[in-house]
Amino acid sequence: MAPMQVFRAPFLLVVAAALTAACGAPPAKPDPRANWYRDVQPIIATRCATCHVPGGITPFALQTYEEVKEHSAQVANAVSTHRMPPWVASADCNSYKGERRLTQSEIALLVDFDKQGALLGDVADQHPLKPTGAELPWVDKTVKAAAPYTPNQFAADKKRVDDYRCFILDPDLTSTRDLIGFEVVPGDRRAVHHVLLYTVPKAEAMALEDGSPEGLGWQCFGGPGTDAPKMVGGWVPGSGVTRFPGQTGVSLFAGDVLIMQVHYNLSQTTAIPEETQVKLQYSVNPVPYHAQMFPLVDKKFAIPPNSMGYARSIEFELPVDATIWGVIPHLHTKGATAKVEILPPTGTTGADTCLVDIPKWDFQWQQFYFFSAPRGVPMSANSRLKLSCSWNNPTSQTVTWGEGTDDEMCLAFLYVTGKI
Ligand code: HEC
Repeated sequence: MAPMQVFRAPFLLVVAAALTAACGAPPAKPDPRANWYRDVQPIIATRCATCHVPGGITPFALQTYEEVKEHSAQVANAVSTHRMPPWVASADCNSYKGERRLTQSEIALLVDFDKQGALLGDVADQHPLKPTGAELPWVDKTVKAAAPYTPNQFAADKKRVDDYRCFILDPDLTSTRDLIGFEVVPGDRRAVHHVLLYTVPKAEAMALEDGSPEGLGWQCFGGPGTDAPKMVGGWVPGSGVTRFPGQTGVSLFAGDVLIMQVHYNLSQTTAIPEETQVKLQYSVNPVPYHAQMFPLVDKKFAIPPNSMGYARSIEFELPVDATIWGVIPHLHTKGATAKVEILPPTGTTGADTCLVDIPKWDFQWQQFYFFSAPRGVPMSANSRLKLSCSWNNPTSQTVTWGEGTDDEMCLAFLYVTGKI
């Protein structure tokens, strides 16, 4: 028994000591006021600092305590009015990977932080910061245009703020490869506002390059300018790497090239030569589920002059079962709303499934929305896909489908697997 007592004695002593401490001096209650280390830094690091980097597209960096303190009133206002982080898809429709949306309690903390004097708090309360932008597990090929490009160099007055340019990126494929992930690395983070990637046969892309009178690449706004481009993906600041969901991938065929459409916006910067790169990750073996980028297109609209909220929708019946993993709607700058839904087969009853709903379209923030459901959204044969768009047209011209800045579009690409 003796050894047992030897062990028990210190244990009782510790308990006794703890009780004495608890009775003698109750632990201080945590300060209820919001502070940097405990409350604000984790939100800023994961939800804001991805875009608000020094030398990025934003008017100021939000990384350090000093930076956030200096802008705390603007931060409180921007988050409580839902201007920041930029995220245009409605929460009532579906949920997506990588949503840039704050919870009510995160918003409340940022508002309190400002109201309560931007307190620093105790460094001992600092959370270990998780790395935010995940990396591709490996990269097979990095592609970029043939030379650097200076945005806006062909604008007659040099005062243009936006420049939309298409470039050929050649992955030099001699056999089919399945793309399972990619990362867009902007050359000048202050200028590159969004990037869309398409695949087309090389000859079609070369015809556009050769037909362009001015320098590297060609001016392109609505699409790359080829007949049936296949969308591969998109990027906006803060979206990090794209890894296609499930065991899916997009086949790139021998002889195909990528067309990279870059939207440069020079409102925060002056143009410098820049080279945006795209890192490509291929599957080692062919993927079990090949995805198609299925286009839903309404080309037949005519938006009346001086009209607000002119709306159209089209329906498309899919003859086979399919799984939808993601969707990217595309309108131009007169776009007001965009929505994609699945409706049950004609004549049957059943619930509609909302895929994406953008109640206030913003041309600056168009991106792929991949559903957070791990197995995607199933769609049974003969269900209907419905695409709805509306526009505001303040001009005195009727606006129709086209690729120019004054034209409009109503288009969505769906990332789909199945026998379609
Ligand atoms: C996806 C990129 C992105 C993320 C994430 C982001 N911002 Fe921004 N932010 C921008 C851009 C671009 C601008 C400048 C253009 C604009 O105002 O829309 C901006 C501007 C701002 C401004 C000044 C203009 C205004 O509307 O008040 C504030 C304040 C701001 N952001 C706060 C935040 C906070 C706080 C977060 C995190 C909770 C955040 N942002 C997350 C891209 C981002």
